[in-house]
Amino acid sequence: MPRPIKDMLASRLSLLKPSPTLLLSSRARELKAKGIDVLDFSGGEPDFDTPAPIKEEAVKALAAGFTKYTAVSGIPDLKEAIREKFLRDQGLEFSPRDIVVSNGAKHTLFELFQVLVNPGDQVLLPAPAWVSYPDQVLLNQGEPVFVPCREDDGFRLDPDALTSVLTPRSKVLVLNSPNNPTGAIIDRSRLEKIADIVLKHNLLVISDEIYEKINYTAAPVPSIATLDPALRARTVIVNGVSKTYAMTGWRIGYAAGPREIMEAMDTVQSQTASNPNSIAQKAAAYAIRSGEAYFLPMLVEYRKRRDWVVEAFNGIPGIRCAPPEGAFYVFPNVSGLLSRSYKGVPIHTVYDLAEFFLDVARVAMVPGTPFGSPLHMRLSYAASQGSLAEAMKRLKEAVALLE
Ligand SMILES: Cc1ncc(COP(=O)(O)O)c(C=O)c1O
Repeated sequence: MPRPIKDMLASRLSLLKPSPTLLLSSRARELKAKGIDVLDFSGGEPDFDTPAPIKEEAVKALAAGFTKYTAVSGIPDLKEAIREKFLRDQGLEFSPRDIVVSNGAKHTLFELFQVLVNPGDQVLLPAPAWVSYPDQVLLNQGEPVFVPCREDDGFRLDPDALTSVLTPRSKVLVLNSPNNPTGAIIDRSRLEKIADIVLKHNLLVISDEIYEKINYTAAPVPSIATLDPALRARTVIVNGVSKTYAMTGWRIGYAAGPREIMEAMDTVQSQTASNPNSIAQKAAAYAIRSGEAYFLPMLVEYRKRRDWVVEAFNGIPGIRCAPPEGAFYVFPNVSGLLSRSYKGVPIHTVYDLAEFFLDVARVAMVPGTPFGSPLHMRLSYAASQGSLAEAMKRLKEAVALLE
């Protein structure tokens, strides 16, 4: 009997689960393919098209034959645009040698865990946390350690909670502000307390700032790297063009930080992915140089939708929704619906509720459990106002059917 292929897969795969957000989008897509009218809010993707002038740069690059391998860690023009961006937006000076461009920030993060995590090293993840962090850590033989953030504290990382999980094996702290899925932004005074802990315990920080620009507060989102040079020396900033410029499919993300880490990432990337797409790099350089010109109109829209969706959720009995400060997700508390049932079938968990919403309301939202909260669900409001209005109507009608 030949050995079954599934038994021949590497054992590290047993640690992984497919991304729950992508899983839900694919279920929604299947239903749509069958002609069922599903409204899908499970993905983390702007509904806007990439602005035309950015696309134009890609067309120009293609026409000019810019179609060959490039430097592994990114073309000089893109690195220069990124360097200028850090200086302009955050007053941070990086040499192009301290910047690595990869195939999206997800790839950037994976490479960072590759070069930083030894077996058993602990990576601290304030939770709720983006679903890919723990799996990427596990795939690199690290141990993800969640630091619970309380809803009644706006889901912000509490310095005391961070201290309480520290062990001699704690190595990397991941900050994600504004946060996916909660939208929480860590304010400066709290960041300073977190910074003290980082320095005292010799932690490294990965500051995932991919939602930096999707910020509804009056002040720019503070970055731990800007607090003082000692923090700058222990922090890698991760960012990208996906969310800010509606460029999810172009796959350009980047990291900037201590040279040793950047050189290690370059080495890993040179043996795995090589350079990110040459044409996308040209378009990304143009996008980053454009600053906020294309982005601001999108932000105005996101804010309107956020306000509207929060109000609509709060109008559904059993659901509570706080207004997020950033990103384009709401994370309503649905615990008031979890002891109910539909046609005699009990709804015990947010997974049951997500199924119910998909089957009965034809609305796809992601259960909060894989993000670290079994009482919440995530909806991305990077979707048209019309589809949001229809979804809220359907959700309200569906909830009214619960016994
Ligand atoms: C918190 C966070 N970080 C990183 C990413 C990765 O973005 P990309 O790989 O498209 O650059 C995402 C995308 O959903 C995200 O939500």
